[in-house]
Amino acid sequence: MHKKFLVLAAVAIIFGLNQRAMAEPQAEVLHFWTSGGEARSVAVLQKEFVANGGIWTDMPVAGGGGDTAMTALRARVLAGNAPAAAQVKGPAIQEWYEEDALADISAVANAEGWDKLLPNAIAQHMKCEGSWCAAPVNVHRVDWIWANAEVLAKAGIEMPTSWEEFNAGAKKLKSMGIIPLAHGGQAWQDATVFEVVALGIGGPEFFHKAFVELDDASLKSNTMIAVFDQVRILRGFVDDNFSGRDWNLATSMVINGEAAFQIMGDWAKGEFTAAGKVPGIDFLCASAPGGGYLYNVDSFAMFRVSGSEKAEGQALLAKLIMGENFQKVFNLNKGSIPARVTTPLNEFDFCARQSAYDMAVSSGNGSLLPSYAHGMALRGAQAGAITDVVTAFFNSNMSSDEAVGRLSAAIKNSL
Ligand code: BGC
Repeated sequence: MHKKFLVLAAVAIIFGLNQRAMAEPQAEVLHFWTSGGEARSVAVLQKEFVANGGIWTDMPVAGGGGDTAMTALRARVLAGNAPAAAQVKGPAIQEWYEEDALADISAVANAEGWDKLLPNAIAQHMKCEGSWCAAPVNVHRVDWIWANAEVLAKAGIEMPTSWEEFNAGAKKLKSMGIIPLAHGGQAWQDATVFEVVALGIGGPEFFHKAFVELDDASLKSNTMIAVFDQVRILRGFVDDNFSGRDWNLATSMVINGEAAFQIMGDWAKGEFTAAGKVPGIDFLCASAPGGGYLYNVDSFAMFRVSGSEKAEGQALLAKLIMGENFQKVFNLNKGSIPARVTTPLNEFDFCARQSAYDMAVSSGNGSLLPSYAHGMALRGAQAGAITDVVTAFFNSNMSSDEAVGRLSAAIKNSL
């Protein structure tokens, strides 16, 4: 009897172990990477996950900047059916943590030594009250200008080093029948152009006061009026069909020479390279006039889900995301630079190397700044309040004076 029991117990244990060994890590991954360059990039993660025994369920939600994806995510979490991982960044990570929606991935982060592999500023975004709650995939720089090299050569103009130069070059292009600025009229794209101009005209200290500290005097200052004035000038360089256009279609206009410039983060480079274009030959990159560095770090937050295969999936995903190979290959495709500091940059092009260099310099002199337009600087309500004013300005004849008044009021109402 006793012996029979032991045999049964042994069989049960072996069966149990087998079952466990057979339980594959699973992850449903919600993201908004659906353009050509973005899809190639996220495929790198999916492939690595599957190669390591994981089962990946893809949940792409189209819409640049991720607003639609964030609405979809909220609906899923409210319905009690959160995805295992979602592309969430900046202060939104903390907002989800405060709602008790996130899983703790400290076990992986500590085992892999993330603290030593990430710049402190990035690590802080990934931590929730000391524990790790998100994994970073990259550093995107927002303040870039992209150009079609042949179009600029034809017009006899160089990459601009000041906004006056930009305006003069754009005027010339317009007179030649070329669209100076490829732009998509979506709120987040208007916000992107606006914050790049704000950094360029106001400088790093002004940017920090206005968009990190929400300092009222800065929001309604003469400098902010000058920022809106320049945005109004840029509005005149956009073609008539800009309304609602996706950002990657705007990039295509630069790729095929229909337009000369685009002001956009370096995910645009992912589109150029996916189209087989070479930096320095087919297209040009330059940091926008003015100086400083606007960072935008993409990351995945892990949500509270039940089931050991999902927890294993989250651990595997977190480990792969911070892996050296993923950080290299993903970012070569995405246009960004690795978040992990030990990833060699020798295979990266000069735009990426300039980004890494400028990031190091700006981190040393206080001009490394979080992008407000890409959810790194402010909580959703405040960022949304600013963007509403910017987009209303872009799509009307509102004066710059009125815009700064509205900006100040909108922030007061949102706090
Ligand atoms: C994200 C990028 C993305 C871009 C366009 C940005 O906010 O950080 O990863 O490619 O939006 O959707």
